[in-house]
Amino acid sequence: MLEDFQQKRYETWRDEKLANYHPNPASLFVEVNNPLQLSSAEKKVITDNCRSNNLSFIKIKPNVEIRGPIHSINAQLGLVDFDQHLCVEDDGLVVIEDTNAPKKGGYVPYSNKALNWHTDGYYNPMDALVGAFSLYCIQPATKGGENRWIDPEMLYIHFRELNPDIVSALSQPTTLTIPTRREDNQIVREASIGPVFFIDKVSQKPKMRFTQRKRNISWLGSIEITDALCALNDFLTGDSEIHHQYKLAAGEGLVCNNVLHNRSSFIDSNQQRRKLIRGRYRNSVSCN
Ligand SMILES: [Fe+2]
Repeated sequence: MLEDFQQKRYETWRDEKLANYHPNPASLFVEVNNPLQLSSAEKKVITDNCRSNNLSFIKIKPNVEIRGPIHSINAQLGLVDFDQHLCVEDDGLVVIEDTNAPKKGGYVPYSNKALNWHTDGYYNPMDALVGAFSLYCIQPATKGGENRWIDPEMLYIHFRELNPDIVSALSQPTTLTIPTRREDNQIVREASIGPVFFIDKVSQKPKMRFTQRKRNISWLGSIEITDALCALNDFLTGDSEIHHQYKLAAGEGLVCNNVLHNRSSFIDSNQQRRKLIRGRYRNSVSCN
């Protein structure tokens, strides 16, 4: 399944990617002066970071009314087509916190539990995947709540160089199925069937759709996929130069083209409760 990204074209893209990739994420921070009006220099660095690393950090002066500024930054980056998930509010944003609130209670993202490696919206249909997401930290947890991430393009290169059979197995069109979800005999989400690695039609670059969840998930039964999955999970569990880790501080955020990520568990105190704002979009940060 490598014919979608033939060797010669892959090698040209790979060499350019590796030449531009920033190995140190500390260089990906951009201080935003006025979120309602990004300067051309700020916008250029954010989009350059998203082109080289699929992720940029931002720093904004704390503001009592932060949703408007976050919405504005994302819109200026071309992120307007927000994902219509269960908890999303009218501005396309959602508060991520440990809560028992209706709709959120019982879901791991809205608890203080760890989140395993995944891309956002892996359960969406292939024609409605999440292209980008943003996070903004209003308050970090007292302890824990760090995110780790890997640029999926770098992961694609890693495995294609290591063993192209792994990429090929995980690029089968029916590799990963998230079954139809029903509540009270009503379908609330159609089944999602697709590959783990695929070449995005618009950008012609590798993207990922992945989760480490074990329940309500079905992997295509083949030795090649079992072996490839084992290699992928082993790699994710370990450490490498393309694994990165950061705990957002208050006033810091990130915008990314749906990098592979996880979250450690965290502890809140009465004085300090972890509170982040997340946006999810079908389009990606426009890099043109
Ligand atoms: Fe996520």
